[in-house]
Amino acid sequence: MSNTRHEKLATWVEQMTTLCQPDAVEWADGSQEEWDRLTQLLCDKGIFTRLNPEKRPNSFLARSAPSDVARVEDRTFICSRRKGAAGANNNWMDPHEMKALLLPKFKGCMKGRTMYVIPFCMGPPESPLAKIGVQVTDSAYVVVNMRIMAHMGKAVLDRLEGEATGEINTGRDGHGNFIPCLHSVGAPLEPGQEDSAWPCNEDKYISHFPDTREIWSYGSGYGGNALLGKKCLALRIASNIAREHDWMAEHMLILGLTSPEGEKTYISAAFPSACGKTNLAMIVPPEKYAKAGWKTTIVGDDIAWLWPHEDGHLHAINPETGYFGVAPGTSYDTNPIAMDSMLENSIFTNVGLTDDGDVWWEGLTEEPPAHLIDWKGNDWTPADGEKGVKAAHPNARFTAPAKQCPTIDPEWQNPEGVPISGIVFGGRRPTTMPLVYQAFNWSHGVYVGATMGSEVTAAAIGLKAGVRRDPMAMLPFCGYNMAEYFHHWLDMRGLVKNLPRFFHVNWFRLDEDGKFLWPGYGDNMRVLEWIVNRCKGRVAGHETPIGWTPHWEDFDAEGIEGFDEKRFDDCMAYNPQEWKDEILSQGELFLKLYDLMPKELVFQRELLAARLA
Ligand code: GTP
Ligand code: SPV
Ligand code: MN
Repeated sequence: MSNTRHEKLATWVEQMTTLCQPDAVEWADGSQEEWDRLTQLLCDKGIFTRLNPEKRPNSFLARSAPSDVARVEDRTFICSRRKGAAGANNNWMDPHEMKALLLPKFKGCMKGRTMYVIPFCMGPPESPLAKIGVQVTDSAYVVVNMRIMAHMGKAVLDRLEGEATGEINTGRDGHGNFIPCLHSVGAPLEPGQEDSAWPCNEDKYISHFPDTREIWSYGSGYGGNALLGKKCLALRIASNIAREHDWMAEHMLILGLTSPEGEKTYISAAFPSACGKTNLAMIVPPEKYAKAGWKTTIVGDDIAWLWPHEDGHLHAINPETGYFGVAPGTSYDTNPIAMDSMLENSIFTNVGLTDDGDVWWEGLTEEPPAHLIDWKGNDWTPADGEKGVKAAHPNARFTAPAKQCPTIDPEWQNPEGVPISGIVFGGRRPTTMPLVYQAFNWSHGVYVGATMGSEVTAAAIGLKAGVRRDPMAMLPFCGYNMAEYFHHWLDMRGLVKNLPRFFHVNWFRLDEDGKFLWPGYGDNMRVLEWIVNRCKGRVAGHETPIGWTPHWEDFDAEGIEGFDEKRFDDCMAYNPQEWKDEILSQGELFLKLYDLMPKELVFQRELLAARLA
């Protein structure tokens, strides 16, 4: 008796059932009936609260355990056969040792629970880059989130089976195969025992086996730790596959920009977690731009898979179908497109619950409601807020379907992806980094990405505050040695005829009073226009030791209150002393990766030092 004619899958699910010993096994089909049943089940268990259907139809609030609110980088492992293959950027354990350690934990871990089997596909299913995975999980929260975040259920299973038997030939890389993803919250129930509100285990292991392309995740029910298609598959495992097959798996948004003349330009941008990808991907141009006829569209907000297309351009797809976005700070002022994407059919994790059954978080409205229930389930009033008690956890998230996004790009599910003209790097830098500059060439651009830094955010637990190096925003997500990853980036240059241009941006520079120098959000369009013009070779740049910067005359600041040439200069200023410190602090990263660090990047650093001297 089996639910699939895919033999390998049937065998694996049987093995997982024997190992985890769930009370029942359920194959997720992705139907509305299943969503209705599981969301109701989650409500009955007290994990979900149904929001007011008049205000937020078919939407739910989830409250996690207070300790299970973000990714856990110190509990994330890359278990390659050789330690050196994982690199100094990853925690490593021998794959056999890791499995020996985890097997006893997984043994019987689903007692008293249902094991859900979720066939899912990352990427438009017809895309040559699409990857099919199957996740087994004891979390219904995961099932309903996966339904928003990826193609999943019966359609994907049918495809996988058809590929295995030869009935379907998609030309998909990995044809007929799937990536097995084992997940448990690690909280078995004794007979008769009731579930705790949000089951999880203090002991967490987010383990990846790149050589055998497997994921084993134990102990957490949260986001990137538990929705295994996202960071685990689409970045850590995919980066390994990509490197072998000449493509790239990146922590990037993909954005379309259409000029008043109707010319369309796609750019991708890598910013570290909680540094503005969703916001930039959903940018609403300032009035002046909208009136002139500029349009912006989103392909993706978090992950991009890029490959050298036969048309000579670097193409990109978004492997996801939903947004798992940071809630705090999101409002109709800062990101109306996100707000409109989550009007219904959405899940809100760790936000506040208002008295009329809707959601609230810091930054949603200027005036907080007079009373609400905070993310921990306690009464909350603005007086608590003044004492520093948050209504929403700083890493509270919304899960919303991409198809509800008003600015979704018509090509977002094109299996061939979209051609990328510019690649933008950036992070949270209170000092040093100007608003925008362009790298001189591919090699310099890779150096700029490789040496990216950013202040750490609430997206991961247990990180030391301050600026850290986060190469290409991939430090927590690169599934192999970062120095070899740099080699791969440099190698890609030879595979793409029409190379994208590289840029670095910083929306977060502070003035002497600790206020942002740059208004950010919609006004970032002004920087994007310069980037588009540079990609098309239409505007001159100002050559500085660090790269090309905009001339004031070429930068459209019209309509930003109080933004004059002096302020522009403050945003753009490069301070030689700060840059010397910057180069010095890059030394730490270079040293850490020294044995395999590409010479080309070592020389780029020396060239920059020489230009600054
Ligand atoms: P992940 O989903 O964790 O990968 O994050 P992300 O990169 O998508 O970040 P997101 O767009 O959610 O932004 C995170 C935080 O940065 C939010 O609180 C935003 O309000 C803030 N932010 C985004 N863009 C800007 C900007 O241009 N200026 C300023 N000052 N803040 C911004
Ligand atoms: C990030 O931390 O970069 C996220 C959220 O996008 S998570 O899915 O938890 O990784
Ligand atoms: Mn992210």
